[in-house]
Amino acid sequence: MKKTILMTMIAVTGIAMNSYAQKVKVNKVFADAEKQTKVMLAEIPKAKATGSAATVGVSPGGAGQELVSPRTLDSGRLKLVSSRDWTSGFFPGQLWFLYEYTGNNEWKTEAEKYTAKIEREKTNGITHDMGFKVYCSFGTGYRLINDAHYKEVIIHSAKTLSTRFNPNTGVIKSWDNRAKWKTPVIIDNMMNLELLFAATQLTGDSSFHKIAVSHANTTMQNHFRSDYSSYHVLDYDSITGKVTQKTTHQGYSNESAWSRGQAWGLYGYTMCYRFTKDEKYLQQAEKIAAFMTKHKNFPKDFVPYYDYDAPGIPNEPRDASAAAVMASALYELSIYSKNGREYKKIANAVVKNLTNSYRSAIGENKGFILLHSTGSKPSNSEVDVPLNYADYYYLEALLRSKKLKEKKPLF
Ligand code: GLY
Repeated sequence: MKKTILMTMIAVTGIAMNSYAQKVKVNKVFADAEKQTKVMLAEIPKAKATGSAATVGVSPGGAGQELVSPRTLDSGRLKLVSSRDWTSGFFPGQLWFLYEYTGNNEWKTEAEKYTAKIEREKTNGITHDMGFKVYCSFGTGYRLINDAHYKEVIIHSAKTLSTRFNPNTGVIKSWDNRAKWKTPVIIDNMMNLELLFAATQLTGDSSFHKIAVSHANTTMQNHFRSDYSSYHVLDYDSITGKVTQKTTHQGYSNESAWSRGQAWGLYGYTMCYRFTKDEKYLQQAEKIAAFMTKHKNFPKDFVPYYDYDAPGIPNEPRDASAAAVMASALYELSIYSKNGREYKKIANAVVKNLTNSYRSAIGENKGFILLHSTGSKPSNSEVDVPLNYADYYYLEALLRSKKLKEKKPLF
């Protein structure tokens, strides 16, 4: 039933998909986002009281720790996670975006409260997810309020993340203790480089920047196929630095193109260009954008299926989170690239379609903003659900669209 409704919606909106003229009313969407976030803030204590499970997703640990962030819905129940979960920073980041847009101090107070709950992660060196956790929360907050303590947390976190860099491989190890891999590196890891680049800017210590550049270059060399799609998980030999396996964890198959992974790569190389102005990163981002947007399986509404090679397309789940990450990245890429007009048009269309066809009704879904994301289809986990990172990157994309329109800097 749910699928039928979605397919019908998509068919209907498909007619208007490629008309870029109709603009999203960012004011209205943010007003709605405020309403939904208020719903969520009211739901969090209720979920805590009923003991929603903490340990979902791929980040290890967290059991027994305070539940600090809403992540998704599980059979309609709000699922909260501890700070250790890779997604813990997105809800604080969302609160900062609401503060940024509205200037309302109530959002600042909430953002500070939820950001503080992530601080303990600055010493957690057992995963690579530091950027997602700390940069989306403290980093976004620091950009807005310039708080000296936030700066310290960012620097401390960058030092911890740097301990996962191995000069033999030239990359930051993503996960520990996985039976299938020895030194796994996932394409998602490109997102964590923002924290390292920022730490060099904040300290003048170039070691963070050098690690980020080494990771980006090594990933560019090994993770991509000739069509500029990327593998999800590579395994490295930690002594020789050689790649020993090219595999997937959340995609359809080892040789397929997992949609969110493509979006992480696009965002990652665009961001690397922001910090380095190295043309090869810009070109890489352009090639990834071409792969994503010109692919035969890129849907009419520009919201990717969970994998570009999923065998049952068009009857495969969408991933609104991949669409949101892609849109936000394309807005940034539009200011650097000769193809900027085209990227902006595509990003506008993605945002319009997410807004018109993928949003929750106000007051529903425990306050999540977007529906129809997919966490991990192969393990049948979080399929066709709201996800906090879809909401985070959707709001970021909206803010970027507004800044571009007003000719203001994005950062
Ligand atoms: N970084 C994990 C994911 O994208 O699902």
